[in-house]
Amino acid sequence: MRQRIRRGGVVVIVLLALAQAYQPDRSNPTTSASSIWEDPTVPRDVLAVFERSCADCHSHETRWPWYSRVAPISWLSARDVNEGRRHLNFSMWSELDPYRRFKLLEEICEEVEEGEMPLAIYTLLHSGAKLSAAEVETLCAWTKSSRDELRGQIGDQPENESHKESHDH
Ligand code: HEC
Repeated sequence: MRQRIRRGGVVVIVLLALAQAYQPDRSNPTTSASSIWEDPTVPRDVLAVFERSCADCHSHETRWPWYSRVAPISWLSARDVNEGRRHLNFSMWSELDPYRRFKLLEEICEEVEEGEMPLAIYTLLHSGAKLSAAEVETLCAWTKSSRDELRGQIGDQPENESHKESHDH
């Protein structure tokens, strides 16, 4: 029995060691001037929250901790970062067309109000990334005022949900 457990342990260790061979891409593309952190119109307290709690998955400025090199955490974190950047990338914020930004602003407020973002698996390891009620309010106040400003640029369309997936405005 003892020996079988020991053998099982060896198998697990060997598998984990082999798993390290598959290293996902953890590169950070260079950040351009279209980063939200370069936008002087965005309040500093908003930028600080994005940097602290969202940038690891939603920007090119991901901080990769040592355990992000260890499989299987390496695969999970690389997947979250790739997915996160695909959905919302603060490093390319000003390149987005106004309509896309308008929709994302709405979703940013929704996600943080519902406590969906930052992802729970992330705050488990980064407890400092959790948002306070005041920070959620700060973000939502900003998304609301930014949406009001954008509304002028994109007309009344966004209020009409049938335009949600349409880009030919
Ligand atoms: C651990 C990585 C991670 C962190 C940290 C994180 N997100 Fe996300 N986020 C994701 C992933 C992955 C998705 C896409 C899948 C999903 O919706 O769950 C996503 C989706 C979103 C979306 C939806 C975008 C769309 O196209 O619908 C918004 C908005 C968002 N995140 C905002 C935030 C904000 C704001 C923060 C910081 C307060 C944050 N996220 C922190 C990983 C993360």
